[in-house]
Amino acid sequence: MATAARSQPSDELSPSDRELFEAARTASRQAYAPYSELAVGAAVRTERGGVFRGCNVENASYGLTSCAERNAVFAAVEAEGPTVSIKVIAIYAKAHTVSPCGACRQVLAELGANARVLFPMGDEICARSIGDLLPIPFRLEGRV
Ligand code: THU
Repeated sequence: MATAARSQPSDELSPSDRELFEAARTASRQAYAPYSELAVGAAVRTERGGVFRGCNVENASYGLTSCAERNAVFAAVEAEGPTVSIKVIAIYAKAHTVSPCGACRQVLAELGANARVLFPMGDEICARSIGDLLPIPFRLEGRV
């Protein structure tokens, strides 16, 4: 069952959540975002305890842009292999509310079915389960 939606002031985050946000902020400094000028960073913690980062990478052919969240998830897959499971993802963007896009929700739902998603919403940090954010993800029948 989906967990209750919840927002919390950032000073109520656990130490490991804070660490993940710091990693997301570090990643945002590497963003390649000359078109939108919105630098986004993401950091995932896996069930095995690994931490992996990603930033958004834009392109002159706009549709090729890759979000910070997916780049972080893909870095985790590269490091831990196909059995990877995302436990938490933190998203950081300066002075913005950034809730993950639909494509990133779909990817997270498959690689972290119980993932907690932490993202900035105004002055607060919103904590939701991926099930709250995407209740009925696409799945290929007969597959995971
Ligand atoms: N972006 C992300 O990296 N993550 C999100 O959750 C939303 C949007 C990026 C894509 C693009 O480079 C820029 O933000 C503006 O859409």
